[in-house]
Formats: sequence, C-alpha cells, structure tokens
Amino acid sequence: MSADESRPEVWTPPIVRPRRLRATASLRRMLRETRLSVDQFVYPLFVTPGSDIVEPIDAMPGQFLRSVDRVVDEARRVADLGIPAVLLFGRAAAKDARGSEASSPEGAVQRAVAAIKSSVPELTVITDVCLCAYTDHGHCGIVVEERIDNDRSVARLVDTALSHAAAGADLVAPSDMMDGRVGAIRAALDAAGHTDVGILAYAAKAASAFYGPFREAADSAPAFGDRRTYQLDPANAREALREVELDVAEGADIVMVKPALVNLDLVARVRDRVTVPVAAYFVSGEYAAIKAAAAQGWLDERAAALEALTAIVRAGAQIVVTYFAPDAAQWLRDEEMRD
Ligand code: PBG
Repeated sequence: MSADESRPEVWTPPIVRPRRLRATASLRRMLRETRLSVDQFVYPLFVTPGSDIVEPIDAMPGQFLRSVDRVVDEARRVADLGIPAVLLFGRAAAKDARGSEASSPEGAVQRAVAAIKSSVPELTVITDVCLCAYTDHGHCGIVVEERIDNDRSVARLVDTALSHAAAGADLVAPSDMMDGRVGAIRAALDAAGHTDVGILAYAAKAASAFYGPFREAADSAPAFGDRRTYQLDPANAREALREVELDVAEGADIVMVKPALVNLDLVARVRDRVTVPVAAYFVSGEYAAIKAAAAQGWLDERAAALEALTAIVRAGAQIVVTYFAPDAAQWLRDEEMRD
C-alpha cells in the first residue's frame, strides 16, 4: 500500500467497475435478474383421518397434520395469500401390504380434495400419488419376496391416481419412481374420461437423506431396507436426465426435480433440455435445516429462506414446492410495501 493507503502502489485501477451498478437500492432493484413471486409457489399440506385435528409436526416446525375440516381452513388462508396451488399428502387410518387406503374414495386425501375444490375452487389441487404412507412395510410399491415389484406397484399407483382424479384433483403427482408409471397413469386417466387431469411427475427424485422429517410427518419410513432400488442415486446426473426424458415421453405435463437445493445443477440442466414446465421441491430436510439453525439464532430465517427460493428459481424452476410458501408470500408482500 502507498503511504496514505488510498490505493495499492503497483497497480492499474480498473476500467470496468461492476460495483457502479450495485450502488443504490433502486439500481439493484432495476437490475435484479431473478424475481420471486407468490405465483411460483406450491404449498404441501398433510391430511390426517378424523376431525378437528391440527397437530404440529416436530421435525418440521410451523407445519401441521390436519383433518379434512381444518385443511379446508388452511387452504382458504393459503389461497387468500395468493398461493396458486397446494400439494396434498395423506396419513392412513389403517395400513396393509398393498396400501389399500391409498386408493380409497373415503381416504383423507380423496375427501380433502373434494372439500377443498368445493370451498376454495380457485385453488389448484395437486395430489401426491404414492403408497408409502399406506403400506405396512413403508415402501412406495408392492413387496414380493423382499423386493419391490415394479408392475404390481404401477397397478396400485394407477388406482390411486384414478381415485384422486375422481375426487376432483387438478393434477396428480406420482412420487414413487417406478418405471412406466407416468404412461400407465396417463392411459388410465384418459380411459376413465379424466383427459383434463394433468400429471406433475416427480421425474428426477433422488434417494435423499433430506426426506427424514417428511417421513415422520407421513409416517412413511420403510420398515426394512431403503428406497435405493427405485429412487435415483444422488450421484447420478445423466441418469436423472434420462428419467426426465422418459416421463416427458410418457406424457408428463410438468417434471419435477427433488430435492431442490442439493440439485440446482439438475434443475438448470432439466430446464435446458425439456420444454415442459420445470418444478423443484424444496424438501422437508432442507426446510428443517433452515428452521433449526434459525431457532438457534444461527441464521436469519427470512433472509435464508428467500435466498434459497431465489436460487431455485434462478436455476430454472418455474414452480417451487415449499413449506415456506405462506411465510414467503407474506414476506414478499411486506417487501412490496417497503419499496
Ligand atoms: C413419498 C414422498 C416423499 C416425499 C414426497 N413424496 C418421501 C419419500 O420418498 O421417502 C418427500 C417430501 C419432503 O421431504 O418434503 N414417496
């Protein structure tokens, strides 16, 4: 440094100074490349059998299991915040080997779909199509001799998707990762006259440690083994793209990458490769990690959540499934008021 420390001695000052454009709030606002909007959010809700139940989920602070009557109230609140869609997950009253309740017209999800569509018709209702919360072994398919039988599983997933469509779901979202299920569900929906019900495919879904909190909420942890024979190896990007291509070819209307934060590279690559809309799921463990650190005072929840959501959209997601949706909707409104 020179004697007065005003600038380095052996140095030519830069001609290009990117900091010029970061100097004021109005410049930064004008030049922001990625904008977060409530229109991008999908809010997951957990429906449980019974009535008048609102039970906190320990591992997901701020999230609750709700009975159908209470889930309708929450759906109303969510729609009033401007959130366009909810994604419904169900808890089972009774479990068995084939996950019978998953496709029951009287199941919590089926009743919730009908109730929400009648009370809050403007809200798009998406249903998670899977068996893991309904099978006594906790796997996402049918177990034959300790292995997950692909085609038997697909048959049950098809029944489940049909029951959701019959209840009035706008989109069904298969999350099981069995081969060929998107095509089978599309064909069955069409044959049943549900040609307008769309498919949001969990297309690139990894076998992730970040689903831990969700499995507590849905009571869906596998009783033996793990999900690695059907969900993707988190190390594989090319295989993830192949899964996405297959789902598009089978008729997926929207493809989803999951988990979102640990797979932003995949979000970007999928966005480049396909022309259907791309969704990303900011999953339970990613949510819980931010919540837990914030509860300790180790990071600013609002800033961290908004930064993560922005990164997911910047990577290329048009839709973000997130437990932060209602809070983020409120934070975005507050920001608008401040500007
Ligand atoms: C069901 C399903 C899971 C999630 C969505 N659908 C769990 C799993 O595959 O074990 C995870 C969602 C989250 O962690 O937020 N198959």
